Amino acid sequence: MSARVEIKGLTKIFARQGADDTMLVLNNVSADIAPGEFVTLLGASGCGKSTLLRVIAGLEVPTKGDAFFDGERISGTSPKRGLVFQEHTLFAWLTVRGNIEFTLKATKQYKERKGEIDGWLSLAGLSEFAGNYPHQLSGGMRQRAALIRALAVSPDVLLLDEPLGALDSFTRMNLQDEIIRLWRERGNTMIMVTHDIDEAIYLSGRIMIMSPRPGRIAKTVDVPQGYPRNRAAADFTALRSEILKFMDFAYEVPQDYTI
Ligand SMILES: Nc1ncnc2c1ncn2[C@@H]1O[C@H](COP(=O)(O)OP(=O)(O)O)[C@@H](O)[C@H]1O
Ligand SMILES: [Mg+2]
Repeated sequence: MSARVEIKGLTKIFARQGADDTMLVLNNVSADIAPGEFVTLLGASGCGKSTLLRVIAGLEVPTKGDAFFDGERISGTSPKRGLVFQEHTLFAWLTVRGNIEFTLKATKQYKERKGEIDGWLSLAGLSEFAGNYPHQLSGGMRQRAALIRALAVSPDVLLLDEPLGALDSFTRMNLQDEIIRLWRERGNTMIMVTHDIDEAIYLSGRIMIMSPRPGRIAKTVDVPQGYPRNRAAADFTALRSEILKFMDFAYEVPQDYTI
């Protein structure tokens, strides 16, 4: 199951803590994300990516404008919109299996879906670790557990807020493949926040580049390549250069440059 997410003229202003003035974080952001699409929000730290994702999750109320889920205005959270954070948020006092069970119970899907738990554990390579507590897992395993816990309730939209940000680059690359596999198998809509250009190109069909604060969508880049993608391919690196240039991080090496 998947769903359409629309954002229309979204503006978010925060009150600054301990001050009288306010801060414009998102300025008139609009986007239309089709059912089953994989979109990344790419931008520097502080540009409002998490705020935008939290509005879609229903955790923040827009100052102006609205977000819609299959045509319905979003107000409050819903198990149809799952959220995974950068730091895993597993319950420390529950095992991996216990974490999934708890989430299914909390969303009243336990009876219907308890038979799927073993499948999820196996899909994430965690069958042998189902009885482990979070502190008994590696960082990558914890993040995998958080991912399947979010997917187990079968959200139509999965919102990923830099879910791989805290991992070493090898674990990260493996988990990127896992995310693609899970997405292709489930077909849900994916909206992922990242500040990693390669991650955005490797995973998504469309990259929304956000400007520094106040955040707005400065450019949308389509990634035409099929999956799996090759990070070393010429069209991949060409796209990386294009994005770096747009974000003003690319520089020309002078002709007479020698070491
Ligand atoms: N609840 C809040 N109250 C006040 N300011 C906030 C709140 N949430 C985020 N901000 C501010 O909004 C800006 C954007 O934050 P965020 O959306 O987390 O950016 P990003 O995820 O792109 O790093 C930051 O300057 C942050 O301090
Ligand atoms: Mg953030």
